[in-house]
Amino acid sequence: MLIVNQVTKTYPGEKKDITVLQMERFEMRRNEKVALIGPSGCGKSTFLNILAGLNRPTSGTVNLLGTDILGLSASAMDRFRARNIGYIHQNFNLIPGFTALENVLLAMQFGNTHPKKDRKEKAKSLLAMVGLEHRMGHKPEQLSNGEQQRVAIARALSNKPALVLADEPTASLDPENTELVMSLLLQACDENQAALLLVSHDMSIAEKMERTVALSRAAIRVGQEDKTYVPA
Ligand SMILES: Nc1ncnc2c1ncn2[C@@H]1O[C@H](COP(=O)(O)OP(=O)(O)OP(=O)(O)O)[C@@H](O)[C@H]1O
Ligand SMILES: [Mg+2]
Repeated sequence: MLIVNQVTKTYPGEKKDITVLQMERFEMRRNEKVALIGPSGCGKSTFLNILAGLNRPTSGTVNLLGTDILGLSASAMDRFRARNIGYIHQNFNLIPGFTALENVLLAMQFGNTHPKKDRKEKAKSLLAMVGLEHRMGHKPEQLSNGEQQRVAIARALSNKPALVLADEPTASLDPENTELVMSLLLQACDENQAALLLVSHDMSIAEKMERTVALSRAAIRVGQEDKTYVPA
């Protein structure tokens, strides 16, 4: 359901371009759970952003659910993402002026997976599942980091996406909430036959996945004239 081929991301540097990601081939099956690990700065979030169509790779192809996502227009990608991808961003990315409930509801409106009349109940039950039944009317600035992280998780699961991208989803959580969130994520992915790609620095979390993919710090400087790869 996900096939990534020869994906690279290169940013312009002051003197030379810097390649921050090189992914030869990466595949995921339906309902597969994969941990993505690697040192800080090795391109994990960059890779997730590319899969979510939020960052364009310099080269390569990404096929998700039979769709060449790099061939989609920006608005088509927005619709595709809303419907098929649940993304728990590393920095949560909640909308500041909206309450926890409104953040989830807005995603459900974009995704349009549930009938309109069912959305509020569904959003409330998701927020309750992550232990936020008493915080639904709070805006992100009124929530702790761990609470914001849990809103982001509720939002990511709200449209029953086929692919869940989770960028360190338990980084701000205490052990109890880590357990809760991990079992919720795993259960939601099983129920929806969704694939889960989870970034974590915590090996006990990564070990809950079926397989682990390690990215190395691939920062490779690329000469601007000859474009030859020279390992840093
Ligand atoms: N817009 C940009 N311009 C230039 N370099 C960038 C840009 N965005 C990211 N980078 C660089 O790309 C590299 C990979 O960043 P990324 O956020 O993907 O790392 P990461 O593996 O998620 O790290 P962490 O574990 O700290 O979250 C970093 O060295 C970063 O400085
Ligand atoms: Mg990151």
